[in-house]
Amino acid sequence: MEKEQDVTRREFLKTAATTVAAASSLASLAAPGILSAQTSGNPVRFGFIGSGTEGCTLLKFLATQPEGHCMGMCDIYPPNLKKGVETIGTNPDTYFDYRKMLERKDMDAVMIATPLNLHAEMIVDSLNAGKHVFVEKTMYFKEEEGDQIRKAMADHPKLVLQVGLQRRSSLLYQVAMEMVHKGALGKIMFVRAQWHRNNNWRRPVPDPKLERQINWRMYKEYSGGLLAELASHQTDIANWAFGSEPLSVYATGGIDYWKDGRETCDNVEAIYEYSDGRKMTWSSILYNAHLDFNEQILGDQGSLIITLGKGMYYRETVAKVSSGKGKENWMAGATVTAAAAEEGVPIFPERGAASELSFLDRETRYAKHWLAGMGIYNYEEPHDPYWSELNHFLLSVRDGKPNIAPFAVGESDAKGVIYGNRSIETGQRVYWPGAGPQKEHSKELKKGVRKA
Ligand SMILES: NC(=O)c1ccc[n+]([C@@H]2O[C@H](COP(=O)([O-])OP(=O)(O)OC[C@H]3O[C@@H](n4cnc5c(N)ncnc54)[C@H](O)[C@@H]3O)[C@@H](O)[C@H]2O)c1
Repeated sequence: MEKEQDVTRREFLKTAATTVAAASSLASLAAPGILSAQTSGNPVRFGFIGSGTEGCTLLKFLATQPEGHCMGMCDIYPPNLKKGVETIGTNPDTYFDYRKMLERKDMDAVMIATPLNLHAEMIVDSLNAGKHVFVEKTMYFKEEEGDQIRKAMADHPKLVLQVGLQRRSSLLYQVAMEMVHKGALGKIMFVRAQWHRNNNWRRPVPDPKLERQINWRMYKEYSGGLLAELASHQTDIANWAFGSEPLSVYATGGIDYWKDGRETCDNVEAIYEYSDGRKMTWSSILYNAHLDFNEQILGDQGSLIITLGKGMYYRETVAKVSSGKGKENWMAGATVTAAAAEEGVPIFPERGAASELSFLDRETRYAKHWLAGMGIYNYEEPHDPYWSELNHFLLSVRDGKPNIAPFAVGESDAKGVIYGNRSIETGQRVYWPGAGPQKEHSKELKKGVRKA
């Protein structure tokens, strides 16, 4: 076996020189979108529903994008409606009833950032009114709503529906997924993620009558709790990494710390099982923020620890060759090998001239060239992923660009939330449709994995 020390820097650079790092990685991510009826080049005329906290974040990014023009703003809460209008700055018409806004014939698209229980109805009404839809995650709340949205999409096949899972639009995550899918981590059996906070997750309420409206996250009538609000981002990463939905979930949780009248859990622990024994564990607590949030993708040759804006690669010191090519695949010097195992290597290149770099920085660069040599692109995040996801949507609608987070992605994600919550409620492991216990058990028995 060729050892890393045997590979000279000259050989390494030769390898790196063959790198194809220029093409956009986006093209491979999804099926082509559908051209809108609108003339390509004109801004997409959109209406916005739900200009609350998240809505205003999206509107702030939309305000910088000439590819879209906001014509209508809808919110039932006047202070938020005003904030939305101010944030977008295009003097849109205002509405309290989104159905009135949908009657407009001069509007191409609708963006939805309302509480979860309203998503499906608003998506279906918008599609049926002939509008393209961007909807915040989680795409829908109740199991049957998936079919309702699917039907509306089938009735309007030319319309784009994109779900707001902004990690899908992050170049960092795209690079990470290329590493995963091109084998840089070896065989992936486990994804671990957590989202830990140390606060009560409540919003201030100016009038007690508004408690349920403003703190909708706390109540089961409107909210899927921590799984819907936080896990949905991270189970999507596991689905993306594993290339499939889970087969089952076992989850537990409780209202154990913030005993303040809330109905949704203040802590959740979940185990999602995928085919071939691959697993994802997810943890969320609201009483300790030390571990913060990230996703950890663990393979038999390396690990990735990623979160928005930062990704670190750690090499397994006992890396096996799972490619079957009988060749060690690490191309840099011994120093970086040690660093990659112990301290990790950032997966995006830093700025700065080579002469300003320390020896270790240069070695780190070589490691990144190694990734590029595998056809894994090395870029810096050009925009905030929020900005990018909205731009992806506008370009899908206007120019038929690929839909980066289509219905199928949102549906897999929503099922993870719904079945996870069902598991917490029932105390039972919940199986995906068609992946019942008998089926899975007999498959495993055949393989001799589990004794009866
Ligand atoms: N992608 C992310 O990272 C991210 C982050 C936060 C929230 N979100 C999602 O965004 C959505 C909104 O969350 P939020 O934190 O902004 O909530 P929010 O309560 O701050 O905002 C929701 C807004 O919807 C309005 N609204 C409620 N019912 C309405 C109706 N019938 N018609 C029109 N407007 C209505 C409310 O008045 C409020 O202004 C949720 O689905 C949430 O999961 C996503």
